[in-house]
Amino acid sequence: MYHQPVLLKESIEGLQINPEGIYVDATYGGGGHSKKILEKLGNGKLIAFDQDEDAQEHIMDDSRLIFIKHNFRYMKNFLKYLGYEQVDGVLADLGVSSHHLDAPERGFSFRFDAPLDMRMDQRAPLRAVDVINEYNPSRLQEMFREYGELRKTRSIVDAIVEAREQQYIESTFQLTGILKSQTPVKYRNKFLARIFQALRIEVNREVENLKYFLGQSNEILKKQGRLAVISYHSVEDRVVKNFMKTGNFEGEVAKDFYGHEQTPLRVINKKVITPSHREIQSNNRARSAKLRIAEKQ
Ligand SMILES: C[S@@+](CC[C@H](N)C(=O)[O-])C[C@H]1O[C@@H](n2cnc3c(N)ncnc32)[C@H](O)[C@@H]1O
Repeated sequence: MYHQPVLLKESIEGLQINPEGIYVDATYGGGGHSKKILEKLGNGKLIAFDQDEDAQEHIMDDSRLIFIKHNFRYMKNFLKYLGYEQVDGVLADLGVSSHHLDAPERGFSFRFDAPLDMRMDQRAPLRAVDVINEYNPSRLQEMFREYGELRKTRSIVDAIVEAREQQYIESTFQLTGILKSQTPVKYRNKFLARIFQALRIEVNREVENLKYFLGQSNEILKKQGRLAVISYHSVEDRVVKNFMKTGNFEGEVAKDFYGHEQTPLRVINKKVITPSHREIQSNNRARSAKLRIAEKQ
C-alpha cells in the first residue's frame, strides 16, 4: 500500500466540507484524504499538491480534482493562476508517506542500505549526502539539536566529521555504522530515527515550507474557511500551534489600540486531536500524529 491515511475521519470532519466549495489538499500522497474530500464534494473542486513525482501514479480520475506536482510553498500562486483567489478549506498531512519510508532507494529509512538521498522532490538540488559531507560542524550540530531534538550533538558531529575526513559518506548504512557507538543498543532505533528525521527536515526545508504554507493558507481562506493540519513531530506541531493561535510563529498574540486580541484564526480544537488506540494498533505510523484545526475569522 502506498500510504494508509491517518486521522482520516477526524480531519475531514474538521474541514466541515461544503459540497459546492473549493478545497486544497496540500499533501496528496496516495490520495487517501483527497478521496474522502471528493466523496463529500458535489460540484465543488479539489486542488491537490504533491512535490513527489511518485504521487502522480495515484491520481484519481475525477474531473473535480486538479493535481499539481509542486511544492505547497507555491500554493497561492498556483491557485491564483487557476482563478481561485479564495478557498473554503485547506488540509495538510505533513511529512513523508509510507511509500517514502518503504522505498529503499529513496534513502529515507535506516532499515535499508541506500544512497543518502531523502529528497521528496526528486528534482531538488540538495540531498542528504550533501548535508552530511559538506555542512560545517556547527551547522550539523544545530540541525541535529533543532530538528532531531537530540542533546549530545557534539559527539555525534565529531564522529561524522572524523569519518568523512577518511571517506565520503554515501550510504545510509555507512552513516548508521558511524553513529552506532553513540547510543546504547536499547535506544539505537529511536536515536537513528531522530538523526534521519533531522536530515530529512533539512533536506526538504520542511519548517520553512510549512511557514510559507501556513501564511498563505491564512491569506486564501474565506471567512469561516477551515484549516486542518496533521503533523508528526513536535518541531512542526509547535509551528502549527503557534500560528493557529496567534497568526504568527512566535506565538505572541497581537492586540489593537484598545487591547482587543487580533488573531486571524480561531482555534477549533483547544486540545490537540491524536489517533485512537485502535488506529495506532492498525497503523503504527499514526502514533505520533497530531491534528489541529482552525477557522478563518
Ligand atoms: C503523509 S503524506 C500524505 C498522505 C496522504 N494524506 C494520503 O492519505 O495518502 C505527505 C505527502 O506530502 C508530500 N509533501 C511533503 N511536503 C511537501 C511540500 N512542501 N510540498 C508538496 N508536497 C509535500 C510528500 O511528498 C508526501 O507524499
